[in-house]
Amino acid sequence: MLYLETFGCQMNVSDSEKIAALMRGIGYAETPDPMLADLILLNTCSIRAKAEQRVYGHLGKFKAMKADRPGLIIGVGGCVAQQEGERLLKKAPFVNLVFGTHNLHLLQDMVGAAQGGTRSVETDFLDDEGRFDLFPAGHAEGGVSKFVTVMQGCDNFCAYCIVPHVRGREISRSAAKVVEEVEALAAAGVTEVTLLGQNVNSYGSRKAGEPDFPELLRLVAQIDGIRRLRFTTSHPKDISPQLIDCFADIPKLAPHIHLPAQSGCDAVLKGMNRGYSRAAYLDKVAALKAACPRIQLTGDMIVGFPGEDEEAFQQTLSLMDEVQYADLFSFIYSARPGTKAAGYPDEVGYAEKQGRLERLQAAQKKITLARNESLVGSVQQVLIEGLSTSGDSLFGRTGGNRGAIMSGDPSLAGRVLEVRIVEGLQTILKGEILHV
Ligand code: 5AD
Ligand code: SF4
Repeated sequence: MLYLETFGCQMNVSDSEKIAALMRGIGYAETPDPMLADLILLNTCSIRAKAEQRVYGHLGKFKAMKADRPGLIIGVGGCVAQQEGERLLKKAPFVNLVFGTHNLHLLQDMVGAAQGGTRSVETDFLDDEGRFDLFPAGHAEGGVSKFVTVMQGCDNFCAYCIVPHVRGREISRSAAKVVEEVEALAAAGVTEVTLLGQNVNSYGSRKAGEPDFPELLRLVAQIDGIRRLRFTTSHPKDISPQLIDCFADIPKLAPHIHLPAQSGCDAVLKGMNRGYSRAAYLDKVAALKAACPRIQLTGDMIVGFPGEDEEAFQQTLSLMDEVQYADLFSFIYSARPGTKAAGYPDEVGYAEKQGRLERLQAAQKKITLARNESLVGSVQQVLIEGLSTSGDSLFGRTGGNRGAIMSGDPSLAGRVLEVRIVEGLQTILKGEILHV
Protein backbone atom coordinates (compact mmCIF):
# COMPACT_ATOMS: atom_id res chain seq x y z
CA MET A 1 0.00 0.00 0.00
CA LEU A 2 1.13 3.56 -0.79
CA TYR A 3 0.98 6.46 1.66
CA LEU A 4 1.49 9.66 -0.36
CA GLU A 5 1.77 13.04 1.29
CA THR A 6 1.74 16.27 -0.69
CA PHE A 7 3.11 19.64 0.40
CA GLY A 8 2.81 22.99 -1.34
CA CYS A 9 1.23 24.19 -4.53
CA GLN A 10 -1.30 22.99 -7.09
CA MET A 11 1.52 21.81 -9.36
CA ASN A 12 2.50 19.38 -6.60
CA VAL A 13 -1.12 18.29 -6.14
CA SER A 14 -1.27 17.60 -9.86
CA ASP A 15 2.09 15.75 -9.80
CA SER A 16 0.82 13.66 -6.87
CA GLU A 17 -2.17 12.53 -8.95
CA LYS A 18 0.33 11.30 -11.54
CA ILE A 19 2.49 9.63 -8.87
CA ALA A 20 -0.54 7.81 -7.46
CA ALA A 21 -1.51 6.60 -10.96
CA LEU A 22 2.05 5.42 -11.64
CA MET A 23 2.17 3.53 -8.34
CA ARG A 24 -1.22 1.91 -9.03
CA GLY A 25 0.42 0.69 -12.24
CA ILE A 26 2.92 -1.35 -10.19
CA GLY A 27 0.39 -2.65 -7.70
CA TYR A 28 0.31 -0.05 -4.92
CA ALA A 29 -3.17 1.06 -3.86
CA GLU A 30 -3.32 4.26 -1.79
CA THR A 31 -3.97 4.34 1.95
CA PRO A 32 -4.51 7.38 4.18
CA ASP A 33 -2.74 5.55 7.04
CA PRO A 34 1.09 5.46 6.97
CA MET A 35 1.01 2.55 9.46
CA LEU A 36 -0.54 0.36 6.73
CA ALA A 37 1.92 1.41 4.04
CA ASP A 38 4.88 -0.47 2.64
CA LEU A 39 5.72 2.54 0.42
CA ILE A 40 5.78 6.12 1.73
CA LEU A 41 6.30 8.97 -0.75
CA LEU A 42 6.58 12.65 0.20
CA ASN A 43 6.02 15.19 -2.56
CA THR A 44 7.78 18.21 -1.09
CA CYS A 45 7.80 22.00 -1.32
CA SER A 46 10.69 24.41 -0.69
CA ILE A 47 9.02 27.72 -1.48
CA ARG A 48 9.61 29.00 2.08
CA ALA A 49 11.91 27.76 4.86
CA LYS A 50 8.86 26.70 6.90
CA ALA A 51 7.57 24.45 4.13
CA GLU A 52 10.97 22.80 3.95
CA GLN A 53 11.18 22.33 7.74
CA ARG A 54 7.82 20.58 7.69
CA VAL A 55 9.23 18.02 5.26
CA TYR A 56 12.11 17.24 7.60
CA GLY A 57 9.68 17.03 10.52
CA HIS A 58 7.60 14.43 8.69
CA LEU A 59 10.66 12.49 7.61
CA GLY A 60 11.62 12.20 11.29
CA LYS A 61 8.28 10.51 11.97
CA PHE A 62 8.81 7.99 9.18
CA LYS A 63 12.34 7.24 10.33
CA ALA A 64 10.89 5.80 13.54
CA MET A 65 8.42 3.67 11.53
CA LYS A 66 11.23 2.31 9.42
CA ALA A 67 13.07 1.18 12.53
CA ASP A 68 10.07 -1.05 13.31
CA ARG A 69 9.45 -2.11 9.71
CA PRO A 70 12.76 -2.44 7.84
CA GLY A 71 11.02 -3.42 4.57
CA LEU A 72 9.28 -0.04 4.38
CA ILE A 73 10.34 1.96 1.28
CA ILE A 74 10.59 5.72 1.77
CA GLY A 75 10.90 8.13 -1.16
CA VAL A 76 11.17 11.91 -1.37
CA GLY A 77 10.20 13.88 -4.46
CA GLY A 78 9.34 17.44 -5.43
CA CYS A 79 11.22 20.68 -4.87
CA VAL A 80 13.20 19.76 -1.72
CA ALA A 81 14.32 16.55 -3.44
CA GLN A 82 15.33 18.53 -6.54
CA GLN A 83 17.36 20.92 -4.44
CA GLU A 84 18.96 18.42 -2.09
CA GLY A 85 19.52 15.41 -4.38
CA GLU A 86 22.35 13.18 -3.08
CA ARG A 87 22.60 15.27 0.11
CA LEU A 88 19.18 14.01 1.14
CA LEU A 89 20.27 10.38 0.89
CA LYS A 90 23.29 11.21 3.07
CA LYS A 91 21.32 13.27 5.61
CA ALA A 92 18.57 10.66 5.83
CA PRO A 93 20.05 7.16 5.52
CA PHE A 94 16.58 5.62 5.93
CA VAL A 95 15.40 7.19 2.64
CA ASN A 96 15.46 4.75 -0.30
CA LEU A 97 14.87 7.07 -3.23
CA VAL A 98 15.00 10.75 -4.18
CA PHE A 99 13.26 11.94 -7.34
CA GLY A 100 13.34 15.48 -8.72
CA THR A 101 10.60 17.56 -10.33
CA HIS A 102 11.33 16.26 -13.88
CA ASN A 103 11.78 12.60 -12.96
CA LEU A 104 8.35 11.19 -12.14
CA HIS A 105 8.53 8.94 -15.20
CA LEU A 106 11.47 7.09 -13.58
CA LEU A 107 9.60 6.41 -10.36
CA GLN A 108 8.26 2.95 -11.17
CA ASP A 109 11.79 1.71 -11.88
CA MET A 110 13.19 3.45 -8.80
CA VAL A 111 10.64 1.76 -6.55
CA GLY A 112 11.44 -1.57 -8.24
CA ALA A 113 15.13 -1.02 -7.51
CA ALA A 114 14.33 -0.14 -3.88
CA GLN A 115 12.42 -3.42 -3.53
CA GLY A 116 15.70 -5.11 -4.52
CA GLY A 117 17.62 -3.06 -1.95
CA THR A 118 19.11 -0.38 -4.24
CA ARG A 119 18.96 3.29 -3.22
CA SER A 120 18.69 5.81 -6.06
CA VAL A 121 18.66 9.54 -6.85
CA GLU A 122 17.32 11.09 -10.07
CA THR A 123 17.30 14.88 -10.34
CA ASP A 124 18.28 15.60 -13.95
CA PHE A 125 16.22 18.25 -15.70
CA LEU A 126 14.46 17.01 -18.81
CA ASP A 127 13.85 20.12 -20.89
CA ASP A 128 11.79 18.36 -23.49
CA GLU A 129 8.09 18.78 -24.14
CA GLY A 130 7.76 14.99 -24.33
CA ARG A 131 7.99 14.75 -20.56
CA PHE A 132 4.41 16.00 -20.18
CA ASP A 133 3.13 12.89 -21.84
CA LEU A 134 5.20 10.30 -20.05
CA PHE A 135 2.41 9.68 -17.57
CA PRO A 136 -0.96 8.03 -17.52
CA ALA A 137 -3.48 10.88 -17.98
CA GLY A 138 -5.75 11.54 -15.03
CA HIS A 139 -9.00 11.09 -16.97
CA ALA A 140 -9.51 7.46 -16.05
CA GLU A 141 -11.01 8.40 -12.66
CA GLY A 142 -13.33 11.13 -13.94
CA GLY A 143 -14.42 13.48 -11.13
CA VAL A 144 -15.91 16.98 -11.20
CA SER A 145 -12.89 19.23 -11.58
CA LYS A 146 -9.38 18.45 -12.86
CA PHE A 147 -6.08 20.22 -13.45
CA VAL A 148 -4.49 20.02 -16.87
CA THR A 149 -0.85 21.04 -17.07
CA VAL A 150 -0.18 23.35 -20.00
CA MET A 151 3.32 24.55 -19.10
CA GLN A 152 5.88 24.03 -16.39
CA GLY A 153 8.87 25.89 -15.07
CA CYS A 154 9.54 29.59 -14.86
CA ASP A 155 11.97 31.99 -16.53
CA ASN A 156 11.09 35.04 -14.47
CA PHE A 157 13.59 34.72 -11.64
CA CYS A 158 11.77 36.89 -9.16
CA ALA A 159 14.52 37.75 -6.68
CA TYR A 160 12.95 35.86 -3.76
CA CYS A 161 11.78 32.76 -5.59
CA ILE A 162 13.22 29.25 -5.63
CA VAL A 163 10.82 27.96 -8.32
CA PRO A 164 13.01 28.63 -11.38
CA HIS A 165 15.83 26.82 -9.57
CA VAL A 166 13.84 23.72 -8.66
CA ARG A 167 11.34 23.51 -11.53
CA GLY A 168 13.67 24.54 -14.35
CA ARG A 169 13.04 26.61 -17.46
CA GLU A 170 9.62 27.30 -18.94
CA ILE A 171 8.38 24.66 -21.29
CA SER A 172 4.94 24.48 -22.91
CA ARG A 173 2.96 21.47 -23.89
CA SER A 174 1.60 21.30 -27.43
CA ALA A 175 -1.96 22.61 -27.81
CA ALA A 176 -2.99 19.37 -29.54
CA LYS A 177 -2.01 17.34 -26.45
CA VAL A 178 -3.79 19.76 -24.11
CA VAL A 179 -6.96 19.56 -26.20
CA GLU A 180 -6.70 15.77 -26.36
CA GLU A 181 -6.45 15.51 -22.58
CA VAL A 182 -9.36 17.89 -21.98
CA GLU A 183 -11.51 15.97 -24.49
CA ALA A 184 -10.74 12.73 -22.66
CA LEU A 185 -11.64 14.37 -19.33
CA ALA A 186 -14.91 15.67 -20.77
CA ALA A 187 -15.70 12.17 -22.08
CA ALA A 188 -15.09 10.81 -18.55
CA GLY A 189 -17.69 13.27 -17.19
CA VAL A 190 -15.42 16.05 -15.88
CA THR A 191 -17.24 19.41 -15.80
CA GLU A 192 -14.47 21.88 -14.96
CA VAL A 193 -10.81 22.07 -15.97
CA THR A 194 -8.13 24.35 -14.62
CA LEU A 195 -5.24 24.95 -16.99
CA LEU A 196 -2.17 24.82 -14.83
CA GLY A 197 1.34 26.26 -15.05
CA GLN A 198 3.77 28.36 -13.02
CA ASN A 199 3.13 31.23 -15.42
CA VAL A 200 0.37 30.27 -17.86
CA ASN A 201 0.36 33.69 -19.55
CA SER A 202 3.68 32.99 -21.24
CA TYR A 203 2.34 29.69 -22.60
CA GLY A 204 3.58 28.75 -26.04
CA SER A 205 5.67 31.86 -26.48
CA ARG A 206 8.65 29.90 -27.80
CA LYS A 207 6.87 28.07 -30.60
CA ALA A 208 6.02 29.45 -34.02
CA GLY A 209 2.60 28.30 -35.25
CA GLU A 210 1.44 27.20 -31.79
CA PRO A 211 -1.32 29.20 -30.12
CA ASP A 212 -0.58 31.66 -27.36
CA PHE A 213 -2.47 31.40 -24.07
CA PRO A 214 -5.61 33.37 -25.03
CA GLU A 215 -5.87 31.28 -28.21
CA LEU A 216 -5.42 28.09 -26.20
CA LEU A 217 -8.27 29.17 -23.89
CA ARG A 218 -10.54 29.64 -26.90
CA LEU A 219 -9.64 26.19 -28.24
CA VAL A 220 -10.33 24.47 -24.92
CA ALA A 221 -13.57 26.41 -24.43
CA GLN A 222 -14.94 24.80 -27.61
CA ILE A 223 -14.78 21.31 -26.11
CA ASP A 224 -18.26 19.93 -25.46
CA GLY A 225 -18.99 18.75 -21.95
CA ILE A 226 -16.61 21.19 -20.25
CA ARG A 227 -18.90 23.72 -18.58
CA ARG A 228 -16.30 25.79 -16.79
CA LEU A 229 -12.73 26.78 -17.49
CA ARG A 230 -10.15 28.23 -15.10
CA PHE A 231 -6.41 28.85 -15.18
CA THR A 232 -3.64 29.50 -12.72
CA THR A 233 -1.14 31.10 -12.08
CA SER A 234 -0.83 34.40 -13.91
CA HIS A 235 2.05 36.84 -13.85
CA PRO A 236 0.74 40.43 -13.97
CA LYS A 237 3.40 41.57 -16.43
CA ASP A 238 2.18 38.98 -18.98
CA ILE A 239 -1.55 39.74 -18.85
CA SER A 240 -2.26 40.85 -22.41
CA PRO A 241 -5.27 42.78 -23.76
CA GLN A 242 -6.16 39.56 -25.63
CA LEU A 243 -6.32 37.64 -22.36
CA ILE A 244 -8.46 40.35 -20.79
CA ASP A 245 -10.82 40.09 -23.79
CA CYS A 246 -11.25 36.38 -23.01
CA PHE A 247 -13.02 37.31 -19.77
CA ALA A 248 -15.44 39.47 -21.74
CA ASP A 249 -16.32 36.96 -24.42
CA ILE A 250 -15.70 33.34 -23.38
CA PRO A 251 -18.83 32.43 -21.39
CA LYS A 252 -17.22 29.24 -20.02
CA LEU A 253 -14.28 31.17 -18.56
CA ALA A 254 -14.98 31.52 -14.83
CA PRO A 255 -14.91 35.13 -13.59
CA HIS A 256 -11.89 34.69 -11.35
CA ILE A 257 -8.21 35.44 -11.68
CA HIS A 258 -5.37 34.74 -9.27
CA LEU A 259 -3.04 37.67 -9.87
CA PRO A 260 -0.25 37.87 -7.29
CA ALA A 261 0.95 41.46 -6.74
CA GLN A 262 3.52 40.53 -4.02
CA SER A 263 3.80 44.20 -2.95
CA GLY A 264 2.15 47.55 -3.56
CA CYS A 265 5.40 49.54 -3.48
CA ASP A 266 7.41 50.31 -6.62
CA ALA A 267 10.83 50.16 -4.94
CA VAL A 268 10.03 46.75 -3.42
CA LEU A 269 8.62 45.45 -6.73
CA LYS A 270 11.85 46.54 -8.40
CA GLY A 271 13.95 44.74 -5.77
CA MET A 272 11.78 41.67 -6.33
CA ASN A 273 12.43 41.85 -10.10
CA ARG A 274 8.71 41.61 -10.80
CA GLY A 275 8.78 43.59 -14.04
CA TYR A 276 5.75 45.82 -13.34
CA SER A 277 4.95 48.91 -11.32
CA ARG A 278 2.10 49.46 -8.89
CA ALA A 279 0.37 51.65 -11.51
CA ALA A 280 0.76 49.00 -14.25
CA TYR A 281 -0.69 46.35 -11.94
CA LEU A 282 -3.64 48.55 -11.04
CA ASP A 283 -4.23 49.39 -14.71
CA LYS A 284 -4.51 45.67 -15.50
CA VAL A 285 -6.88 45.13 -12.59
CA ALA A 286 -9.04 48.02 -13.83
CA ALA A 287 -9.07 46.58 -17.37
CA LEU A 288 -10.07 43.13 -16.05
CA LYS A 289 -12.89 44.66 -14.00
CA ALA A 290 -14.05 46.69 -17.00
CA ALA A 291 -14.07 43.60 -19.24
CA CYS A 292 -15.86 41.48 -16.63
CA PRO A 293 -17.52 43.48 -13.86
CA ARG A 294 -18.23 40.37 -11.75
CA ILE A 295 -14.62 39.18 -11.80
CA GLN A 296 -13.19 38.13 -8.44
CA LEU A 297 -9.50 38.66 -7.82
CA THR A 298 -7.27 36.72 -5.48
CA GLY A 299 -3.58 37.24 -4.96
CA ASP A 300 -0.36 36.61 -3.07
CA MET A 301 1.50 39.16 -0.98
CA ILE A 302 4.91 39.02 0.68
CA VAL A 303 5.70 41.18 3.72
CA GLY A 304 9.14 42.01 5.07
CA PHE A 305 11.01 41.77 1.78
CA PRO A 306 14.46 43.41 2.20
CA GLY A 307 14.04 47.19 1.95
CA GLU A 308 10.33 47.19 2.84
CA ASP A 309 9.86 49.98 5.41
CA GLU A 310 6.62 51.06 7.06
CA GLU A 311 5.81 53.42 4.22
CA ALA A 312 6.32 50.68 1.64
CA PHE A 313 4.11 48.37 3.69
CA GLN A 314 1.40 51.05 3.79
CA GLN A 315 1.51 51.05 -0.01
CA THR A 316 0.71 47.34 0.04
CA LEU A 317 -2.26 47.95 2.32
CA SER A 318 -3.51 50.73 0.08
CA LEU A 319 -3.17 48.54 -3.03
CA MET A 320 -5.26 45.88 -1.29
CA ASP A 321 -7.83 48.50 -0.48
CA GLU A 322 -7.98 49.56 -4.10
CA VAL A 323 -8.11 46.05 -5.60
CA GLN A 324 -10.56 44.59 -3.06
CA TYR A 325 -9.32 40.99 -3.32
CA ALA A 326 -11.90 38.30 -2.63
CA ASP A 327 -9.11 36.47 -0.83
CA LEU A 328 -5.38 36.87 -0.39
CA PHE A 329 -2.54 34.51 0.51
CA SER A 330 0.13 36.33 2.48
CA PHE A 331 3.58 35.32 3.63
CA ILE A 332 6.56 36.60 5.56
CA TYR A 333 9.56 36.85 3.28
CA SER A 334 11.83 33.86 3.67
CA ALA A 335 15.35 33.95 2.18
CA ARG A 336 15.86 30.96 -0.11
CA PRO A 337 19.32 29.62 -0.86
CA GLY A 338 20.60 30.44 -4.34
CA THR A 339 18.10 33.24 -5.04
CA LYS A 340 19.18 36.82 -5.75
CA ALA A 341 17.44 38.29 -2.71
CA ALA A 342 19.21 35.86 -0.37
CA GLY A 343 22.20 38.18 -0.81
CA TYR A 344 20.27 41.38 0.02
CA PRO A 345 20.80 42.95 3.43
CA ASP A 346 17.69 42.15 5.46
CA GLU A 347 17.26 44.81 8.14
CA VAL A 348 13.64 44.25 9.12
CA GLY A 349 13.39 42.30 12.41
CA TYR A 350 11.22 39.16 12.56
CA ALA A 351 8.82 40.63 15.13
CA GLU A 352 8.22 43.61 12.83
CA LYS A 353 7.58 41.27 9.88
CA GLN A 354 5.18 39.21 11.97
CA GLY A 355 3.37 42.39 13.03
CA ARG A 356 3.01 43.48 9.39
CA LEU A 357 1.64 40.09 8.41
CA GLU A 358 -0.96 40.26 11.20
CA ARG A 359 -2.01 43.78 10.20
CA LEU A 360 -2.26 42.76 6.54
CA GLN A 361 -4.30 39.66 7.34
CA ALA A 362 -6.64 41.61 9.62
CA ALA A 363 -7.23 44.14 6.83
CA GLN A 364 -7.91 41.39 4.28
CA LYS A 365 -10.26 39.57 6.64
CA LYS A 366 -12.46 42.67 6.74
CA ILE A 367 -12.41 43.00 2.95
CA THR A 368 -13.23 39.30 2.47
CA LEU A 369 -16.12 39.40 4.94
CA ALA A 370 -17.56 42.56 3.42
CA ARG A 371 -17.35 41.05 -0.06
CA ASN A 372 -18.97 37.80 1.08
CA GLU A 373 -21.75 39.76 2.81
CA SER A 374 -22.29 41.84 -0.33
CA LEU A 375 -23.15 38.64 -2.23
CA VAL A 376 -26.19 37.96 -0.03
CA GLY A 377 -29.31 37.99 -2.21
CA SER A 378 -27.36 37.45 -5.44
CA VAL A 379 -27.81 34.37 -7.62
CA GLN A 380 -24.55 32.55 -8.35
CA GLN A 381 -23.72 29.77 -10.79
CA VAL A 382 -22.35 27.10 -8.44
CA LEU A 383 -20.52 23.99 -9.60
CA ILE A 384 -21.46 21.30 -7.09
CA GLU A 385 -18.34 19.34 -6.12
CA GLY A 386 -19.96 16.89 -3.69
CA LEU A 387 -20.56 16.64 0.04
CA SER A 388 -19.07 19.28 2.35
CA THR A 389 -16.38 18.16 4.81
CA SER A 390 -18.93 17.93 7.60
CA GLY A 391 -20.97 15.64 5.33
CA ASP A 392 -24.33 17.29 6.09
CA SER A 393 -24.56 19.61 3.08
CA LEU A 394 -23.29 20.04 -0.46
CA PHE A 395 -20.15 21.99 -1.26
CA GLY A 396 -19.58 23.90 -4.48
CA ARG A 397 -17.82 26.90 -5.94
CA THR A 398 -19.16 30.04 -7.53
CA GLY A 399 -17.70 31.21 -10.83
CA GLY A 400 -15.67 33.67 -8.74
CA ASN A 401 -14.19 30.63 -6.91
CA ARG A 402 -15.87 31.30 -3.57
CA GLY A 403 -16.77 28.19 -1.61
CA ALA A 404 -20.50 27.73 -0.91
CA ILE A 405 -22.54 25.20 1.05
CA MET A 406 -26.21 24.39 0.55
CA SER A 407 -28.54 21.48 1.13
CA GLY A 408 -29.25 19.09 -1.71
CA ASP A 409 -28.75 15.61 -3.00
CA PRO A 410 -25.17 14.33 -3.52
CA SER A 411 -26.19 13.11 -6.99
CA LEU A 412 -26.05 16.79 -8.06
CA ALA A 413 -22.22 16.65 -8.04
CA GLY A 414 -20.84 17.89 -11.34
CA ARG A 415 -23.85 20.10 -12.12
CA VAL A 416 -23.66 23.90 -12.40
CA LEU A 417 -26.75 25.20 -10.60
CA GLU A 418 -28.28 28.56 -9.79
CA VAL A 419 -27.88 29.19 -6.09
CA ARG A 420 -29.21 32.15 -4.14
CA ILE A 421 -26.73 33.31 -1.49
CA VAL A 422 -28.48 33.66 1.88
CA GLU A 423 -25.48 34.25 4.17
CA GLY A 424 -21.94 35.52 3.64
CA LEU A 425 -19.58 34.30 6.37
CA GLN A 426 -15.83 34.86 6.72
CA THR A 427 -14.73 31.70 4.90
CA ILE A 428 -17.86 30.39 3.23
CA LEU A 429 -21.10 31.40 1.57
CA LYS A 430 -24.38 29.71 2.45
CA GLY A 431 -26.94 29.33 -0.28
CA GLU A 432 -30.07 27.63 -1.49
CA ILE A 433 -30.45 25.90 -4.81
CA LEU A 434 -33.09 27.66 -6.89
CA HIS A 435 -33.94 24.83 -9.27
CA VAL A 436 -32.29 21.66 -10.46
N1 5AD B 1 9.33 34.07 0.82
C1 5AD B 1 8.01 34.29 1.06
N2 5AD B 1 7.03 34.02 0.18
C2 5AD B 1 7.40 33.52 -1.01
N3 5AD B 1 6.67 33.15 -2.08
C3 5AD B 1 7.51 32.68 -3.02
N4 5AD B 1 8.77 32.72 -2.58
C4 5AD B 1 8.74 33.24 -1.34
C5 5AD B 1 9.72 33.54 -0.38
N5 5AD B 1 11.01 33.32 -0.61
C6 5AD B 1 5.22 33.32 -2.16
C7 5AD B 1 4.84 34.28 -3.30
C8 5AD B 1 4.31 33.34 -4.34
C9 5AD B 1 3.68 32.26 -3.49
C10 5AD B 1 3.44 30.96 -4.20
O1 5AD B 1 4.63 32.06 -2.45
O2 5AD B 1 3.83 35.13 -2.80
O3 5AD B 1 3.36 33.95 -5.19
FE1 SF4 C 1 8.52 32.37 -8.67
FE2 SF4 C 1 8.26 34.73 -9.91
FE3 SF4 C 1 8.31 32.45 -11.34
FE4 SF4 C 1 6.15 32.97 -9.80
S1 SF4 C 1 6.86 34.19 -11.58
S2 SF4 C 1 7.26 31.01 -9.94
S3 SF4 C 1 7.11 34.05 -8.08
S4 SF4 C 1 10.00 33.31 -10.14
